[in-house]
Amino acid sequence: MTALDLSSPVAVVGTGTMGQGIAQVALVAGHPVRLYDAADGRAREAADAIGARLDRLVEKERLTAAERDAARARLRPAAELGELADCTLVVEAVLERLDVKQELFRALEDIVSDDCLLATNTSSLSVTAIGGALRVPGRFVGLHFFNPAPLLPLVEVVSGFATDVTYATRAYETARAWGKTPVACADTPGFIVNRVARPFYAEAFAVYESQGADPATIDAVLRESGGFRMGAFELTDLIGQDVNESVTHSVWRSFFQDVRFTPSLAQRRLVESGRLGRKSGQGWYDHRDGAERPEPHTAEPAEPPAYVVAEGDLGPASELLALIREAGIQVREEDEDNGTRLVLPGGGQLVLADGQTSVEFRDVVYFDLALDYRAATRVALSHAPNTSPVTVAEATGLFQALGKKVSVIGDVPGMIVARTVARIIDLAHDAVAKGVATEDDVDTAMRLGVNYPLGPLEWSRRLGGGWACSVLDNLHQCDPSGRYAPSLALYRHAYASDEREGTS
Ligand SMILES: NC(=O)c1ccc[n+]([C@@H]2O[C@H](COP(=O)([O-])OP(=O)(O)OC[C@H]3O[C@@H](n4cnc5c(N)ncnc54)[C@H](O)[C@@H]3O)[C@@H](O)[C@H]2O)c1
Repeated sequence: MTALDLSSPVAVVGTGTMGQGIAQVALVAGHPVRLYDAADGRAREAADAIGARLDRLVEKERLTAAERDAARARLRPAAELGELADCTLVVEAVLERLDVKQELFRALEDIVSDDCLLATNTSSLSVTAIGGALRVPGRFVGLHFFNPAPLLPLVEVVSGFATDVTYATRAYETARAWGKTPVACADTPGFIVNRVARPFYAEAFAVYESQGADPATIDAVLRESGGFRMGAFELTDLIGQDVNESVTHSVWRSFFQDVRFTPSLAQRRLVESGRLGRKSGQGWYDHRDGAERPEPHTAEPAEPPAYVVAEGDLGPASELLALIREAGIQVREEDEDNGTRLVLPGGGQLVLADGQTSVEFRDVVYFDLALDYRAATRVALSHAPNTSPVTVAEATGLFQALGKKVSVIGDVPGMIVARTVARIIDLAHDAVAKGVATEDDVDTAMRLGVNYPLGPLEWSRRLGGGWACSVLDNLHQCDPSGRYAPSLALYRHAYASDEREGTS
């Protein structure tokens, strides 16, 4: 089944933020569009707002004046639901409440034809539950756009339990014809993006709650080392703490309080205090006029070591050896079966974050994972209270000699980037194994939906099959609640990779 014909009318019900954006997308693609909202005058206001946005597209030369005029002529507010009778697709973007959405679709079913595609833009409710009350539930899908819908390309096309594949395909092809990048996914809590992204926020908050580092430092490490566009604290201030927390709660509840999705107590207190982020003037950060943005922790300059001894294969951090040599520091390589580390002249060791705490080892400084050690402008270090100050200074001086800023954080197992990336990779493998979406669609969704620098499965392959599994295994030893227990899918992936690499 192909995309809807452009001549067929599309209705958008609920003309707030999302409804307006979705209507604009369908309109610019070429459809006649009807707008309906329960609040008096809201659909007319939405039509005016969309008209004004079309004017801006003309000013930016992304639309001709003739195209704008034609689009305006195709846009019509509706005073009654009955005016949507000839629509071939209705996209619902009303209040996020199951009873409200169910009631609306039941009413719509009495109005539109039996093969009209019905779609919900819900971000957290079960598509199956919303469509469950319908007489013809096979034509019901989730079409999850991201905000702002005209700008963000991703659309999750969600098939509920009863969704007929022909209608899911029609929705998918229509989204594509509208210039979007659709991904197909099953109806599970959080769909793809809101499910796989949870650890990005949760691990940052956990590091903060365990006094590992302050928000500014965690954000700086996620950006400058992890390669994420924004840190978790600044991003949730932008999204709204209440909105972000409610998604976390919804996913956690829908997974029957699965410990892997446990919400953050620190974020709860923030919401309780009314610090909702930019929109309320304060969140993790103070956004009020004149407020100073706190600086991340950055270590004072230290002397670089004259040489390092590289023992074993540094795995995801191998690039460091070339960088160290380029910085004029001698690297002596020694084959070592038992561990991978850089030994410093004072006898201390530098080890890539592996999910263990450094208190168990004598004189170890951990360094965090970077997306790309050459491009990273900051690297985090952590160490135990009894680590020699000489080792800390040599480790700091080494990374500074490579042109990196250094943030020394508390002794948090898995540090910041390593634990975050390991958990995202785990949830991505788990989602694929549970049939939520294909590997490619999970990667596409995370790159386009939340701007990750790499899709998690691509990241997993780049880091080596067993890396995330071994980090999580170690974290699970430190916190046996189950939050970090690697999924069966990740174990399978690690074993399969080991076999391919001949290491098992
Ligand atoms: N805002 C986002 O970032 C975002 C992103 C993706 C999905 N969503 C989802 O999209 C939906 C809408 O979110 P929003 O942010 O646009 O909300 P909004 O509050 O901006 O708009 C909702 C609109 O729906 C109208 N409405 C409420 N009940 C109605 C009914 N029974 N019939 C017709 N109109 C009704 C309201 O008058 C309002 O104009 C929600 O399901 C939300 O979860 C939101």
